[in-house]
Amino acid sequence: MGERVLVTGGAGYIGAHACKALRAQGFEPVTYDNLSTGWADAVRFGPLVKGDLADRPALDRAFADYRPVAVMHFAALSLIGDAMRDPGLYWRANVTGTLTLIEAAVAAKCGNFVFSSTCATYGDQDGVVLHEASAQLPINAYGASKRAIEDMLANFHASHGLNHVIFRYFNVAGADPEGEIGEQHRPETHLIPLVLETIEGKRPVLTVNGTDYPTPDGTCIRDYVHVMDLAEAHVMGLRWLLEGKGNRVFNLGTGRGFSVREVLDQAQRVTNRPLPVTEGPRRAGDAAVLVSGSDRAREELGWSPRRSDLGRMITDAWRWSQGKGFDR
Ligand SMILES: NC(=O)c1ccc[n+]([C@@H]2O[C@H](COP(=O)([O-])OP(=O)(O)OC[C@H]3O[C@@H](n4cnc5c(N)ncnc54)[C@H](O)[C@@H]3O)[C@@H](O)[C@H]2O)c1
Repeated sequence: MGERVLVTGGAGYIGAHACKALRAQGFEPVTYDNLSTGWADAVRFGPLVKGDLADRPALDRAFADYRPVAVMHFAALSLIGDAMRDPGLYWRANVTGTLTLIEAAVAAKCGNFVFSSTCATYGDQDGVVLHEASAQLPINAYGASKRAIEDMLANFHASHGLNHVIFRYFNVAGADPEGEIGEQHRPETHLIPLVLETIEGKRPVLTVNGTDYPTPDGTCIRDYVHVMDLAEAHVMGLRWLLEGKGNRVFNLGTGRGFSVREVLDQAQRVTNRPLPVTEGPRRAGDAAVLVSGSDRAREELGWSPRRSDLGRMITDAWRWSQGKGFDR
């Protein structure tokens, strides 16, 4: 078995796909997860340690037992609606939780850290393509908590030499093309799985949240990236650190945005089924347009999002959504 990587949130959507990619490339992913939104059943590529980010003794034990060469940190709360209702929860869980994790990593002399940040750190910037050097002006506590963690990583690098790669993801979609794992959030808030559940008849109607945004068709525009492309970028980011290339921030998106209406049309084409739709008000905390400038990841990491065609992402998500899903 190869070098070990401690994967927080490895029982969740993106973390489980990252574990699959790590395993395929000879690493041993050790999942550290409290199963609050994740699934034990999704942990298929290495051991599961059940624990919370806030539990320092459990983290110390995990570092001592497995001696990982790096941490990949996916565990977080990530629902914008909840963050608007209860910002304190987000600051506590994400920022304090990550502080505990980083201090445990430093104490265990695990000097490499790959962090899941988000395009929500950029906020709502009037239709511009967002680059890594764009201003970070989050409009909700979720984005603010992730920005604070980025600052925390810089401080721990300066004082303790903790090397880090930060990935700011745009909208992650799709599922493992081999059908072993996929997206299963409870509650689900992401557009593509909601659309597919509605098409399957598990939900009566799909509500479009806001049709008066300053976009060509009035609905929000997002940049979608396939979860396996994202997982592969993480393995590249890990190698970047293990090769001693140092700290770097990378956006992960395709540079092409799709409106909500375009996604609905494409989903109906892929599934060849109708979708009942109703129009609702805007959701608090949603930016109008989030589109990534992703040249840096392509040029420096050598990443190319091979599967991130919208039709392909919906096809993979559709295959997964028609299977049996995970048990707790
Ligand atoms: N899904 C997206 O489109 C998207 C976009 C941008 C950024 N992100 C970030 O990617 C990461 C993963 O997102 P996801 O969609 O896979 O979410 P998810 O909810 O499926 O996975 C999160 C995992 O972390 C675990 N977890 C949460 N809090 C924990 C804690 N305190 N201690 C231990 N484990 C804990 C959960 O049980 C779950 O398995 C998050 O950090 C999220 O902010 C996701």
